[in-house]
Amino acid sequence: MILHPAFPVEPWSVREVELVLDSLAQTESVFALSNGHIGLRGNLDEGEPFGLPGTYLAGFYEVRHLPYAESAYSNPEAGQTIVNVTNGKIIRLVVEDESFDVRYGELRSHERVLDLRAGVLRRSAEWVSPAGRAVRVSSTRLVSFSKRGVAAIFYEVEPLDGPTSVVVQSELVTNETLPDSEADPRAAGPLTSPLKSAAFDDLGTRAILVHSTRASGLTMSAAMDHVIDGPAGTESNIESFEDLGRLTIAAEVAPGQPLRLVKFLAYGWSSERSVPAVRDQVSAALTQARQAGWDGLMAEQRAYLDDYWDRADIEVEGDAELQQAVRFALFHVLQAGARAERRAIAAKGLTGPGYDGHAFWDSETFVLPVLTYTTPQAAADALGWRHDTLELARERARQLGFAGSAFPWRTIHGEECGGYWPAGTAACHINADIADAVVRYQAAAGTGAVAFERDVGVELLVETARLWRSLGHHDALGNFRIDGVTGPDEYSALADNNVFTNLMAQRNLLAAVDAIQRHPDRAAQLNVDVEETASWRDAAQAMLVPYDSDLGIHPQAEGFSQHQAWDFESTTPEQYPLLFHFPYFDLYRKQVVKQADLVLALHVRGDAFSDEEKARNFAYYERLTVRDSSLSACTQAVIAAEVGHLELAYDYLCEAALIDLNDLQHNTRDGLHIASLAGTWIGAVAGLGGMRDHDGVLSFAPRLPQALSRLAFRLCVRERRLLVEVRAEEATYSLLAGSSLEIVHHGDRVTVEPQRPLTAPIAAAPARDSPSQPPGRAPEHRRPTA
Ligand code: BGC
Repeated sequence: MILHPAFPVEPWSVREVELVLDSLAQTESVFALSNGHIGLRGNLDEGEPFGLPGTYLAGFYEVRHLPYAESAYSNPEAGQTIVNVTNGKIIRLVVEDESFDVRYGELRSHERVLDLRAGVLRRSAEWVSPAGRAVRVSSTRLVSFSKRGVAAIFYEVEPLDGPTSVVVQSELVTNETLPDSEADPRAAGPLTSPLKSAAFDDLGTRAILVHSTRASGLTMSAAMDHVIDGPAGTESNIESFEDLGRLTIAAEVAPGQPLRLVKFLAYGWSSERSVPAVRDQVSAALTQARQAGWDGLMAEQRAYLDDYWDRADIEVEGDAELQQAVRFALFHVLQAGARAERRAIAAKGLTGPGYDGHAFWDSETFVLPVLTYTTPQAAADALGWRHDTLELARERARQLGFAGSAFPWRTIHGEECGGYWPAGTAACHINADIADAVVRYQAAAGTGAVAFERDVGVELLVETARLWRSLGHHDALGNFRIDGVTGPDEYSALADNNVFTNLMAQRNLLAAVDAIQRHPDRAAQLNVDVEETASWRDAAQAMLVPYDSDLGIHPQAEGFSQHQAWDFESTTPEQYPLLFHFPYFDLYRKQVVKQADLVLALHVRGDAFSDEEKARNFAYYERLTVRDSSLSACTQAVIAAEVGHLELAYDYLCEAALIDLNDLQHNTRDGLHIASLAGTWIGAVAGLGGMRDHDGVLSFAPRLPQALSRLAFRLCVRERRLLVEVRAEEATYSLLAGSSLEIVHHGDRVTVEPQRPLTAPIAAAPARDSPSQPPGRAPEHRRPTA
C-alpha cells in the first residue's frame, strides 16, 4: 500500500491523497483509532462503501459454540468472539436530494491523514453530486486517550458553487450487516445480530442505545450528543429505536456559510451492572465530553501524545520510509494498550476482528516489552488483567491434571478458546511468557513496582512455577524434562524439551524462588513452603536443554535436527503460507520453522548461550525459517544484529515495520499485526540498539547498518528517562530525567550521570558468512528512500 503513489512518505503521519477503493478494508485497519478501550475502524463517515465496518470495546465479546468432529475430554466447548458493537461513526450527508457516496458523481479530491502527533484521523473531500452540486466535506475523528469512554468527530460541509440544501444524519447503528467472513482461519468466526436491545432514549441532540449480548451476559451502551453550528434556519430532530439513534439536521448552506457539527460519542459496558447503571455511566461520560468541548478534547489528546513521544519516540536517519513506519507502529502499539486497563490486549488490538479479537502470548512477549519501557502503567495493567483471570487459569490447570495455573493460549475473558489443542493448550510456554513479562516489568519499574510485585507479581510467578513443576518431571538421570508441548513455532507440535519452553520455565521457576524470598508474608498466604521452593530450584537447575553435538547446534526440541528437511526446492511461492497448502501432519514431521523459536530463545534467554552458539544456531535456523507468522522477522532482526549480520537485521526490521503498511501477510483487512508493530520497537531497540535486560542491568550493544546514519531511542527505566543515540562509530547515552544509572555498553559497565551525556565508541561487528534462507523466503533487501 505504502508503495502506491497515493501514500507519500512523511515523518509524522500516514496520508492517502486519493481514495484507493481497492485497499479500503486495509486502510480501515491502518486508519483505525483506539485508546485500548474503544476501537473505531477507519470506515468512511457516511458508512458506505466499506471493506469491513468495525467498532469494538476491549473485553466485550459473545460466546459461541466451538464445534469438534470428535469430542475429547478438556476440549474448550465455548469460544469467544469480539462483537462489532454500535457504530457511532456514521454521519450521512444528502446534498439536495442525492446521498454523498464516493462511488457516484465525481470525487474531485479525497484525502485521509492519520496524524500521529495530534492523535486524530482527518478527512477532506470535494465531491460533485450526479446532479452537479459541488461540496467540500471534512471531518476529524478522535478516540480520547484522556477520557477512555469518549470519542468525537468534527464534521463540516460547505457548498462550493452556490446555496445548497443539505441534510446531515448523525447515527448510532447496532447489528450492522457484516460481509461474509472468509475461509482464512486467521479471520473471525461468524456472529449475526449479536446484540439485543435493552433500552433506548433520545432528547434534544442526544440519543442513547443500550444492548445486551444473548449468551455472554454483557451489557453495553453507546450514546451521542451534538453541537450544531449552522446558518440561520438550520433545523434538527432526534429519534431513537431499538437498533438506531438518529439526529437529522437540515440546513441551507452557502459558500462561506458551512454547516458544522461536533459529534460526541460515549461507550461503556459491564458484566455486572444493570441496564440503568450502564446507561447512566455512558450518559455521564457524554456530559464530560461535552463539557470538555471539541477544542478541549483535542488539546488533551495532543498533551497526552506529546508526553508519549517525549518518552517513546524512535528517530531514524537515512530511511524516511522506515521512520514513518516506526512511528506508525509505535502509535498503534500505544493505541492497543494505553487504556486497556485490566482487559486483554488482542493480537489485532481494536483495529479489526481477526483471530476473533483474542489475546495470545503476543501481548506478553512482544507488546509488553514495548509498553514496559515506554508506558509502564499500561504494562502493569495488562499483567493485572492476567492476575484477575488467575482463578480461571487455576481451574483450567485442575481440569488438565496440573498444579498452579494454566493460562489460555487464546482468549478474551480468560477461558481457553483454542479449539485446536496442539497449537493451543499444548503451547503452555504462554505461562512462562507471562512470568517473564512480570520479571521484566518489575526490574524496569524498580521501586515503582513494589505494590505491583506484592499484589500481582508474586502470585503470577508462584502459580506458573507450580504449573511447570507439575508438568515436567525428573528422569532417571535427574534431568528435568518438559515433554509433549508446543513451542513458539507452530509448524512443530507436541515435542519433548522445546529449548525455548524449558529455558523460559527455568527462568520462571527461579523468579518464583526469588519472589518468595522477598515476600515471605505472601509465601504463607499462598501456602508455599521451603520444600516447594526447593523443588522449583531443583527443577530449574536440572532443566534439560537438548544439544546436537554433531551439528554444534541446539535442536529447537529433542530430535528436531534429525527430522527430514522440508523440500523447499519443490515448494512454489504460491504455496506459502504452508499451512494453507500442506497438512500439519506433514509440517510437524519435518524440519521447517514457521516463526522464530530457538532464535527467540537466543534473544530472551541470551544469557544461556555463548556468542558462538548464537551464531551457529542463527545460521542453522535461518535456512529453515519461512516466516509464515508475523511474529518472526523482529526476532530474526535482533539475533542477526547480535551475531553481526547488520544488513540482514535491517531487512528484517523493515519487514516487521512494514507488515501492515505493505500488507505483507495479505490480511491487514482483518486488523493490524500488533505484535509485529511492537516488534518494530524490538527490532530497533533490542536489534540495532542491542538492548538486553537479562539481569536487572540494561545492556546495549548498538550497531547500525550502512544506510542509517543515526538511530535514537528513549526508554523509561526505574524512574528515569534514558536517551540512546547511535551513530556509525559511537553511541551517546543521556539521562533526560532521573538520577544516575549504571548500564553496560558493548560489555563495559558505565554510569550515565544527569546532565552529562556519555559517549562511547562502537567497534566493528565480527565478520561472519552471510546465512541463507529457504529459496524465495529471504526478506526483501532494503533500498532506503531518501
Ligand atoms: C502465530 C502465533 C500467534 C498468533 C496470533 C499465529 O499465526 O503462529 O504465534 O500468537 O498467530 O498472532
